[in-house]
Amino acid sequence: MPQSGSLRILRNLLPRHKRKTPPSPADEIQFGQTQTDHMLICDYLPAKGGWQVPEIVPYAPFQLTPDSVVFHYGQEVFEGLKAYRDSVQPDQIYFFRPEQNARRFANSALRLGMQPVPEDIFLKCIHELVAVEKDWVLESPASLYIRPTLIGMDTGVSYRASLAYRLFVIVSPAKNYYKRETGVSVFIERQHVRAVPGGSGEAKCGGNYAAALPALQRARALGAEQVLWLDGLERKFVEEVGAMNIMFVYGDKIITPSLTGSILPGVTRSSIIQLARHLGFTMEEKRIDIGEVLTDIAKGTLTEVFGCGTAAVISPVTELLDGDSRIEVNKGKVGPVAMKLKKELIDIQFGRAPDTFGWRTLLASQ
Ligand code: PLP
Ligand code: COI
Repeated sequence: MPQSGSLRILRNLLPRHKRKTPPSPADEIQFGQTQTDHMLICDYLPAKGGWQVPEIVPYAPFQLTPDSVVFHYGQEVFEGLKAYRDSVQPDQIYFFRPEQNARRFANSALRLGMQPVPEDIFLKCIHELVAVEKDWVLESPASLYIRPTLIGMDTGVSYRASLAYRLFVIVSPAKNYYKRETGVSVFIERQHVRAVPGGSGEAKCGGNYAAALPALQRARALGAEQVLWLDGLERKFVEEVGAMNIMFVYGDKIITPSLTGSILPGVTRSSIIQLARHLGFTMEEKRIDIGEVLTDIAKGTLTEVFGCGTAAVISPVTELLDGDSRIEVNKGKVGPVAMKLKKELIDIQFGRAPDTFGWRTLLASQ
């Protein structure tokens, strides 16, 4: 297996005059809509000895035959992480805990019976692609969103795990995930479930997101941005929000659902747990009954709710929709705890506060 230091990456780059001009951080940037000039591709081909030399090539469609396994049996996993331009030394670019994404990507692949990408190859590929696209790492509050994806490439519709895989990585400039900065509205889904114990809920696979779409459509039809999922057995305990983990604030105590196997173990979630403790909050991971959440909001003891994730950072939840009821959280206003944690987190990510936990990795490329 190649070690990252010695791993060769081929570059077949566009001439400068054919490259697009990145947006300015002040522009309106729609999340995930503008891919940069290049992408990285690395195939795993057992007949050719395994992982091939990764290539950075112009962003373009690639061909797969209609009988590829990914189209029929859903062997697809992905990751989401960001590169940040340092606010103090703007020539420096950092990743935030990328080794966590490398590990989760491998775990997701294993859960879907796929060939995991060795973590050193994953990291090396990401460093090299971001180095090529460094002009697209805009200044704070923008960043570069990185989307590594692994798909099963074998052909033929008989049902089995693919033997050949393709890793591809695409990157896009990002700013806000939600249009509304003033808090998101979340729809409590009581019909479908996202995941069950023993299922694929803790893997970041496209299939989880596909099966969650009817609920998202229901949510959107009611004006909510995201779906709040309850557990698959009792349909009673809060799991997570569509693209975020979730936290509940009771004064100086914060609670979040424990990782039971059906929840995506978020990198942002784990960082906020550490950060909140460091800032003096009491932080608890436990099973959280939706009935108690609603009662505590009504009593006024539950003061804030917020979601957290790479794309969405920290997003205050200011409204819950449950059937026909609309329940305001914190009188529909963004609360101080979510705002404080968001500031502390992004200050670390952009180098405006000390990296107390050793979370940042400087972009290194040969
Ligand atoms: N839960 C789901 C379903 C997600 O899609 C995400 C986003 O990646 C998260 C949680 C948060 O994970 P992370 O903080 O690693 O981005
Ligand atoms: C991320 O935060 O990286 C996500 O995966 C969210 C995505 C579903 C848009």
